[in-house]
Amino acid sequence: MSIPRGAISAVRDAQHVFVLTGSGVSAESGVPTFRDAQSGLWAKYDPLQLATPDAFLNDPALVWRWYRWRRELAARATPNPGHLALVRLARFVPQLTLVTQNVDGLHQKAGSRDVVEFHGNLFENRCLNENVIVTDAAECVDVPLCPDCGGPLRPGVVWFGEAIPAKPLETAIAASSQCDLFLSVGTSSAVWPAAGLADSAASNGASIIEINLEATPLTSDSHYNLVGKSGEVLPELLDCLPL
Ligand code: APR
Repeated sequence: MSIPRGAISAVRDAQHVFVLTGSGVSAESGVPTFRDAQSGLWAKYDPLQLATPDAFLNDPALVWRWYRWRRELAARATPNPGHLALVRLARFVPQLTLVTQNVDGLHQKAGSRDVVEFHGNLFENRCLNENVIVTDAAECVDVPLCPDCGGPLRPGVVWFGEAIPAKPLETAIAASSQCDLFLSVGTSSAVWPAAGLADSAASNGASIIEINLEATPLTSDSHYNLVGKSGEVLPELLDCLPL
């Protein structure tokens, strides 16, 4: 695609870029987006019915089977050119805050640092009772148990209806109000509070660039809409910069 000159200038001149990514940035790594139809055994399940506290309390073994399937997918996945372009961008701009809604760890695998994981991390286990990350649990059981209190462990992700952890939320809110460029990549901009971060940036005068395959609720408020695959658009955008 030909990238508008205004979008190139906005990135070139930016002092603080806020990047918000969603599952679309991992799609070209083979990790299904949240709203893509699930495959195989999980095709009959709706993720929105599995990623909830009630689903876990109702059938923890089923939820753990789903998350183990997702962990295997993510563990096999490799960062795509979109992830790698964001690593290059962080080296080019004076300041970059990367906030991801993804839990697959692919930004870190690509080399991004200080990634703000808004919805937690797929590979972490957390004690349901003590709400602390547990690293030494036996994995070979249907529902791993906390070695400290004996209670069930849960995947270290944020489920629907749960609050965003305080630290990532504070970091993201502060950065969104200070950035001068907000880059939304591969997210449907449908889930709050992540979807509200762009409003905070815009209300402080930031330019908004959206990279997506389709229109989202953010599209009409974006200064530039780069329609295409993030694994193609992001490298092309970086290639336009005087790196
Ligand atoms: N390049 C760019 N955008 C893409 C690509 C791609 N290759 N593939 C898909 N997309 C876009 C889709 O058009 C869609 O707008 O990525 C978006 C994915 O949207 P969702 O599946 O809703 O995922 P996401 O926006 O990350 O969801 C946000 O909601 O489902 C919960 O907690 C979950 O973190 C998730 C949050």
